[in-house]
Amino acid sequence: MLKYNLIPKPNSYQALDGTYTVSAATEVLCAQEFLSAGNYLTAYLKTSPVKGEGTIKIRKVGGMQPESYTLKVSPEGITAEASDARGAFYAAVTLKMILMQAQKTEGKAIVSGLLIKDCPHYGYRGLQIDESRHFFGTDVVKRVLDQMAFLKLNILHWHLSDDQGFRIESKVFPELNTIAATRKYAGLKGNGLPYRGGEYFALYTQEEIRDVVAYAKTLHIEVIPEIDIPGHTSAILAAYPHLSCKGEPTEAKCENGIFEEILCAGNDAVYDFLEKLFGEICPLFESKYFHIGGDEAAKGHKIWDTCLKCQALRQENGLKNAKELQGYFMSRANEIIKKFGKTAIAWNDCINDSFDESIVCQYWISHNLKAVREQAYKRDLIMSPDRYFYFDYKYKFLPLKKVYKFNEVKAGFGKSGQRIRGIECEHWAEWIDTEEALQFAMFPRAVAFAEVAWTSLENRRYKDFQKRLEWYKTYMRKRGINYSRIEKRVFGVKALPVYHLGKDGEEYRKSEALKLKE
Ligand code: ACM
Ligand code: ZN
Repeated sequence: MLKYNLIPKPNSYQALDGTYTVSAATEVLCAQEFLSAGNYLTAYLKTSPVKGEGTIKIRKVGGMQPESYTLKVSPEGITAEASDARGAFYAAVTLKMILMQAQKTEGKAIVSGLLIKDCPHYGYRGLQIDESRHFFGTDVVKRVLDQMAFLKLNILHWHLSDDQGFRIESKVFPELNTIAATRKYAGLKGNGLPYRGGEYFALYTQEEIRDVVAYAKTLHIEVIPEIDIPGHTSAILAAYPHLSCKGEPTEAKCENGIFEEILCAGNDAVYDFLEKLFGEICPLFESKYFHIGGDEAAKGHKIWDTCLKCQALRQENGLKNAKELQGYFMSRANEIIKKFGKTAIAWNDCINDSFDESIVCQYWISHNLKAVREQAYKRDLIMSPDRYFYFDYKYKFLPLKKVYKFNEVKAGFGKSGQRIRGIECEHWAEWIDTEEALQFAMFPRAVAFAEVAWTSLENRRYKDFQKRLEWYKTYMRKRGINYSRIEKRVFGVKALPVYHLGKDGEEYRKSEALKLKE
């Protein structure tokens, strides 16, 4: 039995005899390469170390798996071991969670003896935020990163371009910073809601992007940008309409939905644009991955079918239909991405065998699950099936337990030879308009998600998780982090669209009422 309420649950835990006392005088000694772990702990402990008053040692050893660590607390001291900086960092995160819960007397923490040997189930443990639909800004994103690190999540997927706004400063394409970053109304129309608010303008400067990436790095989180193409590009096309098939003027959208206008696949100017744009954006990020979207382009395929340029390109290359044309388009975008030293990721609804096999598949929609399973043998795959991991869905439709019960094998994967790299949860922000609403969608589901990502299936029990979650909820209340009190599924709730409606929504109001009662 775990002595402390650790989330994600360590994969191996053993209680040891005795205790060790940590105080403000305790020294944190760590290997030079493990400074991020040492800094994480000292920032929490606020120690002024005194020699001889006890130590926490973070040591480098050979031969351990990436991201894995051991943590030992005994009357002799506290020692963490890892072979890489990420493992050392996760030892520090675990120790911080233990220290927060340890018995305190006279400003000292008495930690019970224990031995943890831990390593993650998945190497890719992602969380996505969508700042095209609503912009949160650097401070909010840093707070999201803090929470991610505390839960041992290691990938931030940053959705920065969509129909409703383009959010990265470009020095090459100035209209992206004005027209593409601006829409007429703040609040989107759809799901029964009218247009709300006035003109909405927001973007990150390149300096702010670099600042977020650097901050994430101190927490061992990789930031993957997404520039969604060829669909979901109304904002780009508002700025540069000549990049669409028809070349007609358009605007950044103030509605949710899927739109017809997409980038023209048969126009060399589009590939030139992408090369310059990606050339500018790629160096801002350190991750080897770059997400190029590819989803929900089918409406646009109808325009491709009537476009002379697209038709000519199809003929030239023997492409049978618009799906194959998209394969061509994405593979060409992938070549550009590769030139800048990155690996492309694309959503599963566009991927087929005509796609270059270096393109990673992100699985979100299951309408053609058989094909996705096949793709998992051909290319790396990240799983974010909407019915488990779309946290903009209502709690009534996607409750905590459903997230926790995710099982890769039952979802049709986990066969030998399938290249599953990990999982990701999504926070599409059409109806998420504030940090408070974002937190509501995220928590406590992201806490369950983190355990699914880290802890192997045989070590997970929902009841046991619920008990540990009580501690996490107390922690969130103390920190002023909003979270949903609705956990139960309500059968009969319409599956789609099943958005959480932010401050306008009934789920949210109910959550607020419950919060006041506590
Ligand atoms: C998606 O939800 N359109 C990837
Ligand atoms: Zn075209």
